[in-house]
Amino acid sequence: MQELDITRAQRVLGHRNLVFVGLMGAGKSAIGRLVAQMLEIPFVDSDHEIERVSRMTIPELFEIYGEAEFRALESRVVRRLLKTGPRVLSTGGGAFMNEAIRANVLANGVSVWLKADLDVLWMRVNKRGSRPLLKTANPRQTLSDLLDQRYPVYETAELTVQSRDVDKETIATETIAAVASLDGGQETVPNS
Ligand code: S3P
Repeated sequence: MQELDITRAQRVLGHRNLVFVGLMGAGKSAIGRLVAQMLEIPFVDSDHEIERVSRMTIPELFEIYGEAEFRALESRVVRRLLKTGPRVLSTGGGAFMNEAIRANVLANGVSVWLKADLDVLWMRVNKRGSRPLLKTANPRQTLSDLLDQRYPVYETAELTVQSRDVDKETIATETIAAVASLDGGQETVPNS
């Protein structure tokens, strides 16, 4: 990793959050945590924050209160998290689909869509039963439908990084380089 990219990415963020969006299984938390470490800023995950404040797991929230309540809580939590920065914020897959959250992220953060193919996502989410939206008769088809619905919206994120089956250091490094590329500022040499 080029030191210069880290410095430039930090400068691009300033006090803003670097916000990861994308489907479940894209690696938003794993890559986000690593990017935060590399940029030496805190990491926060909106799903974990929702679980912390509600003292319930995401599957419990869906089961007891339903998706609409979960979305309302998600919206409040993300709005609050966006107020403090800089840090890396990884969001749940549905967060950026919410118009108010999306507008807030686009206005106040630097957004990165972690894009992945269906096979990669499926390989990862299939191992765990923790996604309430995939408790359907044909979860792979459900994931594929979500991909069709959501990719045109995720595409409006400021940056896109392709997540794939390589080590997470590679994706994290590419993410930082993408953020650094938004840096228009030139190093200035003081006049003598
Ligand atoms: C959801 C994704 C999950 C979690 C909830 C709903 C979605 O987060 O917020 O199960 O709508 O895609 P991850 O993307 O971290 O799995």
